Amino acid sequence: MNALARPFSVAAEARLSSADLPKPETLIRIEDLTKVYDPKEGPVLDGISLAIGKGDIHGIIGRSGAGKSTLVRCLNGLVAPTSGRVLVSGREISSLSGAPLRAARRDISMIFQHFSLLSSRTAAGNVALPLEVAGVEKNEIRRRIPELLELVGLSAKVDAYPSELSGGQKQRIGIARALALNPQVLLSDEATSALDPETTEQILALLKDINRRLGLTIVLITHEMDVVRQIASHVTVLEHGKLVESGPTFDVLAFPKSQVARSFLSSIVAHDLPRQVSERLRPSPAPGSSPVLRIVFAGQAAHEPVLAALVEQFRIRPNILHGRIDYIDDKPLGVLTLVAAGGTPTLPGVLAYLSSLGLHGEIVGHVL
Ligand SMILES: Nc1ncnc2c1ncn2[C@@H]1O[C@H](COP(=O)(O)OP(=O)(O)OP(=O)(O)O)[C@@H](O)[C@H]1O
Ligand SMILES: [Mg+2]
Repeated sequence: MNALARPFSVAAEARLSSADLPKPETLIRIEDLTKVYDPKEGPVLDGISLAIGKGDIHGIIGRSGAGKSTLVRCLNGLVAPTSGRVLVSGREISSLSGAPLRAARRDISMIFQHFSLLSSRTAAGNVALPLEVAGVEKNEIRRRIPELLELVGLSAKVDAYPSELSGGQKQRIGIARALALNPQVLLSDEATSALDPETTEQILALLKDINRRLGLTIVLITHEMDVVRQIASHVTVLEHGKLVESGPTFDVLAFPKSQVARSFLSSIVAHDLPRQVSERLRPSPAPGSSPVLRIVFAGQAAHEPVLAALVEQFRIRPNILHGRIDYIDDKPLGVLTLVAAGGTPTLPGVLAYLSSLGLHGEIVGHVL
């Protein structure tokens, strides 16, 4: 077994064992959900059915306008579906209004891209807000604030105003405020999109920590597959209001079935290609160019001598550009990018061969 193959076989075992585990309790059930804002425009959500398990971090990914925010707003009753149902903890959110809806919403809180903090209130004042609105006693509020600020690592900023806080600190306050009423579900609509990569990582780590410590279910909208890769246990891909793919993150990333999931996946790996290589990539072949092939290894097929087959069967001279193993939901997934020199004529055969092994092969461009 070569050095690269070992972790992939671990992946295969992990996949087998996860299939054997009992299914977690479903907390959110979406049944044939459709939303039409403007009949002339057609549905913004089109027949979505989805079950989200208790304690999952479920990523919703899709391009701008795919319907992500609309879907998540149907979960807390901010948007009323045109047809279909949304059940959270067995309660049909889509049929509630008035006081029962407000009561249900305490269980389903939300954080936002631009934090939505009140600038006239301190950190403590912002965190206190949902408690005040819910009529919680003053003494109890006083007791809860330090607890909540500690949970998000911001005890020192209790008296700071939003204007005195960094973006990451503001989002921590947003998270503390969202957790004030001990919700069962936290909805996050692009909560890290306004933050730099390092702060994004810290906020994602905080969300994962809270998910583990409190068993909180998180539904997280993003347009970045890297956010999904870092924390989501499950992912749903939306396109034009339709669910095009959904499942455990590892399975969707390792074996994307839809073109749109594949394009999100390539967006992760394109980042990984060394700049010197990505700058040389051209979208189409030119005289004398060679294709650049990316192979995703996971599951049993990792045992196959793929590189040997490329050389012997397809007469390719592989030149490895980049290889790495990522951990997705704590399971390894290997990606190898190589220049398939001499491979242009046999490419369809190579892709068919990889596909027959259950491997994902993709031409990411061409180099001279
Ligand atoms: N209140 C509304 N009234 C009418 N149309 C709306 C409304 N809200 C959203 N839409 C339309 O529904 C579609 C989906 O919007 P939505 O905000 O759900 O997409 P999204 O996936 O969250 O996009 P983004 O990534 O840009 O936030 C868009 O075409 C949008 O213009
Ligand atoms: Mg949106």
